Amino acid sequence: MLPAALAAMTEQLAVVGNASSLHRTGRAARRAVEESREKIARCLGARPSEIIFTSGGTESDNLAVKGSYWARRDGDPARVRLLVGVTEHHAVLDCVDFLVAHEGAKVTWLECTPDGVVEPATVRAAIAADPDSVALVSVMWANNEVGAVQDVRAIADVAHEFGVPFHTDAVQAAGHLAVDFEASGADLMSVTAHKLGGPIGVGALVARRDAKLVALTHGGGQERQVRSGTLDAPAIVGFAAALVEATGSIAEESARLVALRDDLIERAMAISPDIRPSGVWQRGDGVSRLPGNVHLLVPGCDGDSLLYLLDAAGVSCSTGSACQAGVPQPSHVLLAMGVAESDARGALRLTLGHTSTRADVDTFIEALPAAIDRARRAREANAS
Ligand SMILES: Cc1ncc(COP(=O)(O)O)c(C=O)c1O
Repeated sequence: MLPAALAAMTEQLAVVGNASSLHRTGRAARRAVEESREKIARCLGARPSEIIFTSGGTESDNLAVKGSYWARRDGDPARVRLLVGVTEHHAVLDCVDFLVAHEGAKVTWLECTPDGVVEPATVRAAIAADPDSVALVSVMWANNEVGAVQDVRAIADVAHEFGVPFHTDAVQAAGHLAVDFEASGADLMSVTAHKLGGPIGVGALVARRDAKLVALTHGGGQERQVRSGTLDAPAIVGFAAALVEATGSIAEESARLVALRDDLIERAMAISPDIRPSGVWQRGDGVSRLPGNVHLLVPGCDGDSLLYLLDAAGVSCSTGSACQAGVPQPSHVLLAMGVAESDARGALRLTLGHTSTRADVDTFIEALPAAIDRARRAREANAS
């Protein structure tokens, strides 16, 4: 967590009070929540009344996708088709799968380019095929694996041309890119605190006042009646402090991370000529790729072997695969981008953040040659 967020949250943790209570301590907690709401709204280019606090990105995506689907279908039983980017996070993908399996939804997956980008023309063609059946378009602002940034405004414009609401998962973008809800044209936008230096377990769905949502949790009627539950005032205060700090230093921090990222990628490529970054990467570019995102394809290796070898050297990274029933499956994002399955198995993802330094990059670069060597030998041994 950013020190300012940790300090603000810790202070609030010592304060008693339920923000829904009418007594003095309750009102004090409410004040802390509402001041935080105002700060978060200001940082995201939204109105305070558009912020619905949730437990994080997963819940925000669930509320956006399921809540909109049910609201749209209730209004018009023909509106059951969801148009969803093929590279979305599982918090969106699995909601869609659930709605298809249990709630009569249909889905049109929006294909991406080899750079991981969903083009507005793809969205247009998908809607135009049957405009009256569309419930929602959902395309993420920035991808969590390869860092690809979408032209959210252009996609929102296409959706609105057909009168269709648009949701964007901005979990990876908020606090790292210039995110302005109003200017983006989105109707619904998911954010989470822990990706921007705030605590884990709190986030928001930013929802236009006219966005129609069916509640997923019922109870005390908090948060515009769509997200019941006692508000976590300390976490919300920490979230606001982190977002204020992150957006206040976004230009300098982005330039710093882009420089570290480019250095890391170039030095990794110099180690082995077949290592290459996935998706869009251009030196100095912190606009079309997330500033702190590094995604490398290391042919001939299994990502899992690399992960454990690098972990032993003090480097925390992720692979491009997810385990299903104990078997590593190549990332759906890489496959959608046209990366061969064998290459996708050797994917390595590193995320640089506010605590990352040049010394961290040096540690990684020093550990990489031996890790590649051992991972390649392990794969060859397994194959023979
Ligand atoms: C793009 C994206 N969406 C949603 C989530 C889920 O967010 P949370 O961990 O706050 O539930 C993540 C988390 O990694 C993410 O990267």
